[in-house]
Amino acid sequence: MIALPATTDATGTPEWAALRARARELRKQPLGKLVDEPGRYQRLACSAAGLLLDLTRQRLCADTVDLLLALAERCGFAAWREALFSGAPVNNTEDRAALHMALRAGADASYAAAGEAVMPAVLAERERMLGLAADIRAGRRLGYDGQPFSDVVNIGIGGSDLGAVMATAALREPGSDGPRLHFVSNVDGLQFAELAGSLDPARTLFVVCSKSFTTLETRLNAEAARRWLLQSAPESAVARHFVAVSVNEAAMDAFGIAPELRLHVWDWVGGRFSLWSSVGLAIAIAVGPAAFRELLAGAAAMDEHFRRAEAGLNLPLLLGLVAVWNRNFLGLNDHAVLPYCSRLHRLPAFLQQLEMESLGKHVSRDGRPLKIATGPVIWGEPGSNAQHSFFQLLHQGSCASSLDFIAPALPPAGGEDAHLHNLANMLAQAEAFARGVSEADALESLLSAGLPEAEARRLAPHKEHRGGRPSSLILLPRLDARHLGALIALYEHKVFVQGVIWGINPFDQWGVELGKLMAREVYTALARGDGEQLPPVGRELLHRLGRERSSA
Ligand code: F6P
Repeated sequence: MIALPATTDATGTPEWAALRARARELRKQPLGKLVDEPGRYQRLACSAAGLLLDLTRQRLCADTVDLLLALAERCGFAAWREALFSGAPVNNTEDRAALHMALRAGADASYAAAGEAVMPAVLAERERMLGLAADIRAGRRLGYDGQPFSDVVNIGIGGSDLGAVMATAALREPGSDGPRLHFVSNVDGLQFAELAGSLDPARTLFVVCSKSFTTLETRLNAEAARRWLLQSAPESAVARHFVAVSVNEAAMDAFGIAPELRLHVWDWVGGRFSLWSSVGLAIAIAVGPAAFRELLAGAAAMDEHFRRAEAGLNLPLLLGLVAVWNRNFLGLNDHAVLPYCSRLHRLPAFLQQLEMESLGKHVSRDGRPLKIATGPVIWGEPGSNAQHSFFQLLHQGSCASSLDFIAPALPPAGGEDAHLHNLANMLAQAEAFARGVSEADALESLLSAGLPEAEARRLAPHKEHRGGRPSSLILLPRLDARHLGALIALYEHKVFVQGVIWGINPFDQWGVELGKLMAREVYTALARGDGEQLPPVGRELLHRLGRERSSA
């Protein structure tokens, strides 16, 4: 077994103290002035795997980056990265490796978890999954009455849903070959009930995606789908209409999943890191095996870069360190993801799980309470829409956020002018957030627009934008599978870097368990009508449910 490096308390290091001092100085400087520093773009922009990362609008200078890199070195970053890639149990509370990189690696790679080579099984499973996706797309897989599938419904939640939803929305061309894709995740039953009305049971394939196969939401939706199918199909149809992606063989047996429609994942893949595995079956059905392989290749290129590139040019390392800088040294509590591309509309939700489930921790790897802030709140929307909804608060509200602007440089076919407007808006917003407008400048432009002085003075404070909102800008050459893969891997490794500096395990998620456990007890009490076991509002709920039932 490979030993883990020691966890360093970053706050006790000289680099941490130096960064705090530097932050005090830099906070006093207008960000707009920093942005105009000569040579800044050459020093603070770099590229890898086709992506360009522009950090020029962050509140830092090249020397700050050097200090952050020194902090990473002090925290044993290189040793931790090696531990990750060599399959050490970096998920120490579950004693597991985190080998999502193996899922996108080529045949020449050699990853091992707990000393056991994983690539043979990974490659074999990848071919099985892509073969199945190709058959489903081409109409070679048939339903119980011999018809090909017109619709595929992925049933899963969290990491068994968001990656597939996000990548499918990003990459599937309208009117492309293959069945329609749908996603059902919510436990309220509405999603499936509403979708079912538009589906033909004989032509619908379900993919039950659940690493554990015990997740309540997924189980209930899968059972609802099964009941719905069996209203018009014989029991034997289950074995043709359900694929499952899971580690839980017993649960797949109990559900009636046919052995050839069981796809395997491994304990060493975390849900939110799993879209590269058979969990991505929906993506492969939507875009086809060739594009899915491109997605993997883009991510593998970013893995290679992360593992080997020199520190000062290493995109995930820089992005992770800048996140630490904004969180711990500039005190920013939240981070907005703003893709300037409507097809990336689920990227903020995907990154929300990736970052918040990984980095929402209050103790170190060895269980000690942390003295510093960890993961910020991650949120966002496509930038174009966000400008007309929450940008007001980001520009002039009383709290400041850090921002990521993301866009493809080249337009989709035929949309050149619209694309220029899109890019212009993104660049203008990034500049406006950094530079702002002083009240004096606002006053001057009101006066030069001919407003009477009293009116101009009345309005000027409302037109002041303080600026100083730091942002990164990430450019993809175009929105395609390869560069989406690289982008997602960039963020995955960014999360790992933050985990190293904060000394936390980014691969577990114990915080989601308590609520699940309590929900089971509350459900039992609600189902039995046992008000004694419920809080007061629960008794009110029972009362209302009772009234509803008796008037039905
Ligand atoms: O509840 C959180 C979580 O455990 C996520 O980490 C995971 O992605 C999701 O639930 C779904 O889990 P499963 O794939 O086991 O259904």
